[in-house]
Amino acid sequence: MSTESTKAQGAPAERRTFAIISHPDAGKTTLTEKLLLFGGAIREAGAVKGKKARRHATSDWMEIEKQRGISVTSTVLQFSYRNRRINILDTPGHEDFSEDTYRTLTAADSAMMLIDAAKGVEPQTIKLFEVCRMRGIPIFTFINKLDRQGKDPLALLEELEEVLGIRSCPMNWPIGMGQEFQGIYNRPDNRFERFTDRGTETEQIQVDDIEDEALREALGPALHEQLKEEVMLLDIAGDPFDAELVQRGKLTPVFFGSAIANFGVETFLNQFIDLAPPPGPRPTDDGRVVTTDAPFSGFVFKIQANMNPAHRDRVAFIRVCSGRFERGMTVNHVRTGKKVNLAQPQQFFGQGREIIDEAYPGDILGIFDPGLFRIGDTLCEADKFQFEKLPQFSPEHFARVYVKNTLKYKQFHKGMEQLSEEGAIQVFRQANRTEDMVLGAVGQLQFEVFQHRMKAEYGAEVELHNLPYSFARWLVSPVPIEQLNYDRQAIIVVKDHDDRFVMLFPNEFTIRLVLDKNPGVELHPTSYGV
Ligand code: G4P
Repeated sequence: MSTESTKAQGAPAERRTFAIISHPDAGKTTLTEKLLLFGGAIREAGAVKGKKARRHATSDWMEIEKQRGISVTSTVLQFSYRNRRINILDTPGHEDFSEDTYRTLTAADSAMMLIDAAKGVEPQTIKLFEVCRMRGIPIFTFINKLDRQGKDPLALLEELEEVLGIRSCPMNWPIGMGQEFQGIYNRPDNRFERFTDRGTETEQIQVDDIEDEALREALGPALHEQLKEEVMLLDIAGDPFDAELVQRGKLTPVFFGSAIANFGVETFLNQFIDLAPPPGPRPTDDGRVVTTDAPFSGFVFKIQANMNPAHRDRVAFIRVCSGRFERGMTVNHVRTGKKVNLAQPQQFFGQGREIIDEAYPGDILGIFDPGLFRIGDTLCEADKFQFEKLPQFSPEHFARVYVKNTLKYKQFHKGMEQLSEEGAIQVFRQANRTEDMVLGAVGQLQFEVFQHRMKAEYGAEVELHNLPYSFARWLVSPVPIEQLNYDRQAIIVVKDHDDRFVMLFPNEFTIRLVLDKNPGVELHPTSYGV
């Protein structure tokens, strides 16, 4: 373990805290590994847990929970690169998908969006992108797997615009693809990088401009002509680079490469480091703004349970927003009004974790949680304020839940209450059958986690029966619910924690039908604005 990692260095301006968003299989693990290699956080490829290991892990989730010491390291990876402290937040792929994944993005200052050149924009990317858009954070796109035949680069840019609604500015441009892949031409500095699968030993040719004879020689006349034409088209018809639009998340700089061949990754990382924002001010729930130079503050964005099952170990992950964190400091836990001593802060580095002495805005701390913390909690040193509420997400999976042993009813209720408050699961009651509880989750795995935790932490075994709904809509209706015109076979009405009515739909068609048949009715994907 490097000793450097024990000392967090420098000011917030040096930090870059981001998440990588992508659809499973786009190459996130591979890209993360290459980023870690550049940062010297790992010494060889293969150190990051491999695809197969993860497949096994997700099919046998209970087992990995027992070994959370390993998998938790993927929550955040920290390393130094070019005098910057880099914090990469993990957003698991769909097998692991849960509200956690979304919430993690609230701790990021920017995002890398990874796209498989052959597949284009995929569903998981769209969902994660939406959260980034909601927060208005900058998004940097890496189009991966250029060593294989993929979609036409121009078509991919169009897809970004049409599917995600974001304008793009290619920072480099690929020459050929798959077997014919020659490399990339970097537009800002007129540099040609020739593709080899030798990673960092890439041949680089610096030219004066795209007309340069050296480039023509390097590519041959036909490819040179093609590149000139395409780049000219980008110059004329494409969006110019605009740093301000990038900062506001309205324009995404696009890079091409091959993560597996470690090609284009360094160029991407270097530009990302220069363009991505450092930690900035954060709004509080009463409309104030906390700047990074204020006394220490942070918020809990994730709680990971059962890190050590023998001790029912839980770790709360805190994003530092302002000030300087010091090990052992006592802070206000605003929700409960208690003072809390943060004695054993941990930080994560490559494959290990260790106790740290200090941290700065942008850093992530793992604090042992005796059951005190909830997602969204604010911790602050001086003033008492609450950061803006973390967004809620629309559940897409539903199940009826039953306790197996009715003698455990009390434990069952306690677990249901606590786990829903923690944000691990959403709990609904069926409107006309109050004894029937319905669980909602954004990812199926949340149900498994819930079931496991109910047993392990509350001693209540539960049975889940999946329900055929895929959409929840919070209802605002000008007429009483009984008078609503809807298909009572296909749709059910439940109530959320705060007794608001929520309709559960099997598909989008049934949502549209309710809106068509009931003028004045509003259906909201979350409880916001209801
Ligand atoms: P993920 O974390 O986004 O799910 O993706 P991961 O990195 O595990 O990559 C998914 C698959 O794509 C892996 O192959 C990986 O080797 C491959 N891959 C990643 N980057 C590139 C690239 O730039 N070019 C090409 N051609 N392939 C790439 P796999 O066979 O599914 O897994 P494995 O058995 O190789 O681990």
